[in-house]
Amino acid sequence: MRVGILTGGGDCPGLNAVIRAVVTKGERQYGDEVVGFRNGWAGVMEGDVMPLSAERCRDILPLGGTILGTSRANPYAIEGGAQAVRATLEREAVEALVAVGGDDTLGVAGQLAREGVPVVGVPKTIDNDLGVTELTFGFHTAVQTATEAIDRLRTTAESHHRVMVVEVMGRDTGWIATYAGIAGGAAEILIPEEPFDMAAVCDRLRAHHGRDVSASVVVAAEGARPRDGEIVVQSDQRDAFGHARLGGVGRVVADEIEARTGFETRLTVLGHVQRGGTPTAFDRVLATRFGIAAIDAVHDGHSGKAAVLQANQIRLAPLEDLTGKAKLVDRDLYETVAGALVSFPD
Ligand code: F6P
Repeated sequence: MRVGILTGGGDCPGLNAVIRAVVTKGERQYGDEVVGFRNGWAGVMEGDVMPLSAERCRDILPLGGTILGTSRANPYAIEGGAQAVRATLEREAVEALVAVGGDDTLGVAGQLAREGVPVVGVPKTIDNDLGVTELTFGFHTAVQTATEAIDRLRTTAESHHRVMVVEVMGRDTGWIATYAGIAGGAAEILIPEEPFDMAAVCDRLRAHHGRDVSASVVVAAEGARPRDGEIVVQSDQRDAFGHARLGGVGRVVADEIEARTGFETRLTVLGHVQRGGTPTAFDRVLATRFGIAAIDAVHDGHSGKAAVLQANQIRLAPLEDLTGKAKLVDRDLYETVAGALVSFPD
């Protein structure tokens, strides 16, 4: 069988592990020829093909990023885009496609599947906000990176008795902020799900910072917003899926804390550092399990489905169940676990 694979949307650690699993199992067990499409849906529309083999994928397991490249191209936002996808698949004699991506990429995959194109999805995002799957690969690595950064920031903050605001990724949900905040012992965790009250945040920080600690860490997801304010965007420019570029809430929070409390406050924006570098062992394993499940699903004749993690088992779920609605941070984790140890936005 000739199988195509693409990686779309923001990259994340573990993408190469998926590619390796699909190609290696496809070639060795099923006798497949697997071809990659460069740069997400853009490569499928343009017919930009990269031949893949188990030999080519031998050393890519620990590599961050994606050897295929990625983009946020959307065939349904371009006149004739979906037809171009179909034409390429026909010309390349690709019988099934594995689409590795987040909400946007899998949304396109679902639409193509409904129109008769055989597609199986693999969920990825450091944000961990795709529905139905308990985890996406890349998240664990991002949390590890953010936690290490918080640990480093804490020692310098202690020397100077400062408040450190750390802005992490998380457009619609605060999974990275919550996990890294708990792991890093943050005083405050601000997430998109819970608009925060700046006055209350400062009251709690006064109690926390002034008392027995010489440093306070505030973790803010980029999508967090004040109760009476808007999400902070870097620019109004929108991508092909309509998303603005977020970032800047950390600056607002840090300035407000310093102005209201008088505590010397510094900001660190972790940004794309969280998406780069080698995947953790956990993410390599999860990505590999997803890749194996995807190529098996292709050979079992599935389409319009994605590999997901449920109760530590890999299962298949309809693509529609993963997309369109962000999986919000677990209330119990935020309120009971984080809430017991951090002063908490009310
Ligand atoms: O992939 C999700 C994400 O990392 C979001 O957390 C973030 O808002 C966005 O991607 C950044 O995208 P870009 O790489 O286009 O700046």
